[in-house]
Amino acid sequence: MRIGVLAVAALALAACGAKPAFAAEESMDKMWGEAAGKSGAERSDRAALFRDGNYGMFIHWGLYSHLGGQWKGKTFYGIGEWIMRQMKIPQAEYMAIAKEFNPTSFDAREIARLAKSAGMRWIIITSKHHDGFAMFKSAHPFNIVDATPFGRDPMKELAAACKEAGLGFGFYYSHNQDWTAPGASNGPARNADGTPATFERYFREKCHPQVKEICTGYGPLDFIWFDTPGKIPKELVMELADLVRTTQPNALLGSRIGHGLGDYISKGDMEVPPRNIEGLWETCDTTNDSWAYAWYDRNWKDAKEILRRLVSTVGRGGSYLLNVGPDGQGRVPAQAVKYLERAGEWIRRHPRVVYAAGPSPWGHALPWGDVTTQGNILSLVVFDWPAEGRLLLPGLRTDIAEASIVADDQTLAVQWSRRGTWTELRLPAGMPERPASVVEVKLTGTTDVDQTPGVYPNVATTLPVEFADVTDAEKDTHRWMEKFGEWKHVTQVGRWKPSGKATWTVDVADAGDYRLEMIYRGDGRLVWAIETDEGETLQNQQAAASLYHAYPFGLLTFRAPGKRTITVSLVDGNRDQASLESIRLSPVE
Ligand code: GLC
Repeated sequence: MRIGVLAVAALALAACGAKPAFAAEESMDKMWGEAAGKSGAERSDRAALFRDGNYGMFIHWGLYSHLGGQWKGKTFYGIGEWIMRQMKIPQAEYMAIAKEFNPTSFDAREIARLAKSAGMRWIIITSKHHDGFAMFKSAHPFNIVDATPFGRDPMKELAAACKEAGLGFGFYYSHNQDWTAPGASNGPARNADGTPATFERYFREKCHPQVKEICTGYGPLDFIWFDTPGKIPKELVMELADLVRTTQPNALLGSRIGHGLGDYISKGDMEVPPRNIEGLWETCDTTNDSWAYAWYDRNWKDAKEILRRLVSTVGRGGSYLLNVGPDGQGRVPAQAVKYLERAGEWIRRHPRVVYAAGPSPWGHALPWGDVTTQGNILSLVVFDWPAEGRLLLPGLRTDIAEASIVADDQTLAVQWSRRGTWTELRLPAGMPERPASVVEVKLTGTTDVDQTPGVYPNVATTLPVEFADVTDAEKDTHRWMEKFGEWKHVTQVGRWKPSGKATWTVDVADAGDYRLEMIYRGDGRLVWAIETDEGETLQNQQAAASLYHAYPFGLLTFRAPGKRTITVSLVDGNRDQASLESIRLSPVE
């Protein structure tokens, strides 16, 4: 076994080197521009849908959907809407695809019905993506009504369907990048007549007029979601913001308009943050790996994964925007529909977990699931049923008035007891509802929680470095792409000096032995030491591969329960490449 793991790690190292091969493509994240300004939207009525709805549908649909990730028999494995640029499809050839684009199966009402049955409260759709193709009737000829045999304006149809269904509605618009408009970011450098193109002219002749079109032709909008502002000049962004504010006074602007002029922050793609965040923000995510339809991409999130990411986003204080990519015919892939609807059925049984729900008082996910709140009522959403039905909560200082499980229209009373700083709820041995069960806990007063992470006696505890104090090493967040545009991120500790330390303070429920694994990446082999404040130590060497991987380090003993510290240091190995993500402690049988 051990030899097998080492052999694979060695192969991975030989193949990729110490640095991931995709580092060169990391520029997209620098174009997002995350900061949102102080528009005062947080407390305003126009933010009510976003603040309380907590769950919306994102749709990436355009000319690229017709290609579906394939060009001239070759597949582009990456986010489908980037196919033109990533496969270097000549502009004239790309634009000519419009003549074949005829999505006659597009049914706006069906999409609105899906969003509703998924439990979503609004839809935001790509009106123009980076390829420059308008999915609405525009004065600019490269648009779905004038350039395709389809001839319909699907944005009109969807705006009407959302209104009819009582859903919020908004547009995505790529304002900075336009690959087919001279002068735009990543667009042709020259105008059709050969003269040098300017951004200003693209802005005046295409971007600004089109934003005006979407803001004036589709009824009241709830959102305008600009994207990849990059280095767009501030004056121009201010003009766009003014245009939206005057024509659509109720619309919220996402932060990717740039220059801090948004009303809310849109986090990095596919990023559910580890800690609670204040203010108005969202995580945008997708049902598979790509945003736009790609023929091969069947990496669908199932209902459990959808709910886990939704509940964790709401638990961190944000709102979840989940994407579907209709195909070239306009149909949402069946497996996306299936799992969105399953998740929606669950939400209909537990609306209080999602809508108008507040963040978790623990401030981070718990090993068995996550928590959202309605005043002093906690919804404990259990995804991984704990052994023997013992659900443990660290650090809850407020007394419990009542606890129950609500499943199958039945309410089951739950008993609880206190053990030091821990509260133990006694649940049935088997999970009463799938994919998650909800334990509702009513507290006697205002919630007060000590947020120190717990070490649990009956479920594995992962302690990310995010929660560690670090000295003589550097903690920061790295983003990288798995496939092109499929973002992953990790907070890690690197650049370990010989004196470098990462220390977690934890609340240990039970004394005993725990299996300790270290999750890291690096080069060669690494020797790590782990020490507790009780003087218990572990030191061991394991391999290091170029991707994060869990390595067993041994059994760590806690002699007594209570507040303990665990300190990790790097004893030997390639200090520049060692990157620690987390440690994991699992109870030993
Ligand atoms: C990135 C990509 C874009 C995608 C967006 C979704 O900005 O460039 O293709 O639409 O993420 O959040």
